[in-house]
Amino acid sequence: MPENTDDPRPSRLPMSRRQVLAGAGSTGLLAAAAGPAKATTVRGRRARAAASDGTPEQIHLTWGDNPTSSVVISWASPGRANRPRARIGQRVIPAEVRTYTDGISGETVWTYHARVGGLRPGATYAYAVTADNDGNAADPFSATFRTAPQGRAAFRFTSFGDLATPNTSWVLSYGQSAYAVEAVESFQPLFHLLNGDLCYANLNPTVQPEVWRDFGNNNQTSAASRPWMPCPGNHEVEFYNGPQGLTSYLTRYTLPENHAPGFGGRWYSFRIGSVLFVSVDADDVVYQDAAAFVAGPAALTPAAGTGHQPVQPGTSFYIRGYSGGVQTAWLERTLAAGRRDESVDWIIVQMHQCALSSSSTGNGSDLGIRQEWLPLFDKYQVDLVLNGHDHDYERSFPVRGADANVGREVATGATVNTLRPHPVTTTDSGVFDTSQGTVHLILGCGGTDAPLDEYGTDTADDQRQAKVFTQADRPVLTSTPDVYARAAADAVEDATWSARRDTSTGYGIAVFDVDPGAESGQPSIKITHYHAVGADPVNPASGVKGAPTPDYTEFETFRLVRTRSS
Ligand SMILES: [Fe+2]
Repeated sequence: MPENTDDPRPSRLPMSRRQVLAGAGSTGLLAAAAGPAKATTVRGRRARAAASDGTPEQIHLTWGDNPTSSVVISWASPGRANRPRARIGQRVIPAEVRTYTDGISGETVWTYHARVGGLRPGATYAYAVTADNDGNAADPFSATFRTAPQGRAAFRFTSFGDLATPNTSWVLSYGQSAYAVEAVESFQPLFHLLNGDLCYANLNPTVQPEVWRDFGNNNQTSAASRPWMPCPGNHEVEFYNGPQGLTSYLTRYTLPENHAPGFGGRWYSFRIGSVLFVSVDADDVVYQDAAAFVAGPAALTPAAGTGHQPVQPGTSFYIRGYSGGVQTAWLERTLAAGRRDESVDWIIVQMHQCALSSSSTGNGSDLGIRQEWLPLFDKYQVDLVLNGHDHDYERSFPVRGADANVGREVATGATVNTLRPHPVTTTDSGVFDTSQGTVHLILGCGGTDAPLDEYGTDTADDQRQAKVFTQADRPVLTSTPDVYARAAADAVEDATWSARRDTSTGYGIAVFDVDPGAESGQPSIKITHYHAVGADPVNPASGVKGAPTPDYTEFETFRLVRTRSS
């Protein structure tokens, strides 16, 4: 299939959806899927909001540099807000205004960021956001949040990626994304980790700000009351929106400082209790080419006012290596400092793409992460890696080191070195000592309309099998004139590292309860994955047709343990 939706199956884009989108201002890639070549252009801005409307919307929290004492309250408004501000107790905090003009539609987006510092640890605060031209000025939006506890305290967080929006006009959006946000609230975590591919705006290139708006207003239900900490995925990368295409993402989020000039917001870390959380942008290291792409035959033509040239068929926005090694150097420094710190027991890494995934209908695994980052995870004993990207749930055994030359090139059958991560145990005991190996969790189970809960099997030996990208899958011309495609992963391996795969649904949420352990006790993290059985539009294993559901039930519980670092 020409466009990358993290779902190689063409049947996932129903014709009615294509027609709706074509009518709304079609794109080259959608025109390619829908039929005959036709010049397509953005026909002007849709539903342009009143320029004078400063009413807060898309309200969400992120941690400040120190989660025990600081948060950032961020929001947007349809037009420019006058004197945007947050109020917390008696304090009135003016918001920083950040704006950008979408490089394809030419629409201007207004966002606001109030940095709130000087808070007490483990305390609950009420806040309100408003502006002089707030339509709700008489009763401004208000909510409460809680700061992180000080020291070795117990806390809960939740995670998934690949959320999308509930507005099914957009490619990959689906009603489950509203239930997924409600699920976060039902578990009342201190915060939520959103593992990339937030809303797939780049698959709806002529209406990106509208897609982001639906995303922001959907997740406000939870994100206004507790921080949601994101990382970029391949679908945050947009044509004509900044050097890595991340302007829509970076403008909306204020994230902890990484002190990497020119790369703010792309990666960061923060500390809560005895856990160091490290969020990285795997777009920088993966081989796979999966970001913005025009398949053809038509070009993607930005609105005239943008001054941007049409994006020609066969163009992809490929950003592997964009930081020139700066991110990996930062990652090593951050992991090393974390492991040296006697008050840190756990290191948890968040990234979008997967080093270990055996989804057969999704992307699979990527050698780029294995080469660049897994040796660092081994060296500094990273406990847990949380991913999205493949729309399912998969858990690895703890892995350390690599088995060499056990992969096979799909095209030729030749041996290829996929650096297959080596499981330190293949006994699924339910309790894993992560000082011995790193557990990887695939959590791309947020709310898209394309679950990928179908997994690989090697028919020769009946072992689990994973696809692996070992080289870039840049666009190549198909047999149809002016239509380009990107290939699937080029290699396979027996997935000896795969411990558990959920075949019943592609939707779920992981809940993490961190227990720091008593003075002489053992720290542990209890992880329970809840899944939304019946939410798959069509379950690939059973063929049963489903629909969005609010019912999340337990799939599995396991524990990570390690010795206290002090
Ligand atoms: Fe993705």
